[in-house]
Amino acid sequence: MSVIGAGYLGAVHAACMAELGHEVVAIDTDAGKVASLAQGRAPMYEPGLDDLLARALATGRLTFTTDYALAADADVHFICVGTPQRHGENAADTSYVFGAADALAPHLTGPTLVVGKSTVPVGTAARLRDRIRSIAPAGDDVRLAWNPEFLREGFAIEDTVRPNRFVYGVDSPATDPGRADTDLLDRVYAEPLSTGIPRLVVDFATAELVKVAANAFLATKISFINAMSEVCEAAGGDVVALAGAIGMDDRIGPKFLKAGIGFGGGCLPKDIRAFMARAGELGADQALTFLREVDAINLRRRARMVDLAREACGGTLRGKRVAVLGAAFKPNSDDIRDSPALDVAAACRMAGARVTVHDPKALDNARVRAPELDYADAVTECLAGADVVLHLTEWTEYRELDPAELIALVAAPVVIDGRNALDVDRWRGAGWTYRALGRPTV
Ligand code: UDX
Repeated sequence: MSVIGAGYLGAVHAACMAELGHEVVAIDTDAGKVASLAQGRAPMYEPGLDDLLARALATGRLTFTTDYALAADADVHFICVGTPQRHGENAADTSYVFGAADALAPHLTGPTLVVGKSTVPVGTAARLRDRIRSIAPAGDDVRLAWNPEFLREGFAIEDTVRPNRFVYGVDSPATDPGRADTDLLDRVYAEPLSTGIPRLVVDFATAELVKVAANAFLATKISFINAMSEVCEAAGGDVVALAGAIGMDDRIGPKFLKAGIGFGGGCLPKDIRAFMARAGELGADQALTFLREVDAINLRRRARMVDLAREACGGTLRGKRVAVLGAAFKPNSDDIRDSPALDVAAACRMAGARVTVHDPKALDNARVRAPELDYADAVTECLAGADVVLHLTEWTEYRELDPAELIALVAAPVVIDGRNALDVDRWRGAGWTYRALGRPTV
């Protein structure tokens, strides 16, 4: 098989498919990325990925290249390129998907299956099928399927080989060619399917929608609890206790009810915006206007965090030292795309504070994105002389800090927990003023 695009999705997919026993050629236009992956070095931090790459490369079943011609013999081609938000718009930029198809199609000389995995606006699969067939020498012998991924950063390998479900969007699933596409995908995923993971066969549009609907639901769940956080702040309630209590209702469930500075990353924010934009094009914009509110609640939490920092510093951040723990959009990742943590840090800097950021993995990426901030390789260095400490990404190592030891380092022992993850009693017991979003002050 070929895997086109060796970014987060593609690099993990290619390595996992080789581990399952397939022969995989992974193609990317970025020669630097290809060279590094070919040596077993992932371009991002993902637990277990370097080891997996090393194992897969050693079998000889995994190759990285910039040359599309090497894909010519593959039975299946996975399209795994990105669909970022377009500049100045909500809509997704699908030019990489169509670019990949245009580069691949001239090499498709016989019957083959192209499988889209990228997250795309509904309707893309049908357009892509027609485009590839119009270019490929094999014409209508090229089949297309849509097989969305649901991988979470930090669990990308597990989510690729043991997803909670496989979804196949198949062109005319009830016809012989449609059934053949399903059979081929079943062969690709034979090993995980043999463990009983459900597999759903649907049409193109439904497959495309499953992915964005799932992400819209997750974003809504987070913004729901963050809206409750705002109400708790107004009413004097405790959002952590509230989330615990409503999460015990198994119709609601406890997951994705962590209140804090909200969601970021390369998926949820841009996916809900692209979903709204696409619904507008389809004349169904009213159905998704609530996502505008989901987005607004999410961004308001970041602003609220900056307000709390300002309050803690006596009404102004000008000239104050702010220590920021965390730059990644979530723990176990070095991804800073639309990171709430980095956004809050930058906003404090804009308000005149001197901001020092620590993160176990994301500092190199953060330095490039936000060069105006100061960076510290050690937590102790980050906290030195701080007027306020902001806990913005819930890395385990921050929960393991000893607040009693740290208190001597700071100018004022005030910590604001933007992730509701620190042990309140421990920090207060050690003499810190502890504040958090959606929780009582004392
Ligand atoms: C998400 C989806 O979970 C995944 O299925 C999809 O394929 C890609 O997008 P990911 O972006 O890796 O995955 O992160 P996720 O674990 O979903 O977290 C997203 C953001 O929400 C993070 O910033 C996280 O800190 C935040 N979050 C998550 C909360 O603020 N509260 C929660 O309760 C859960």
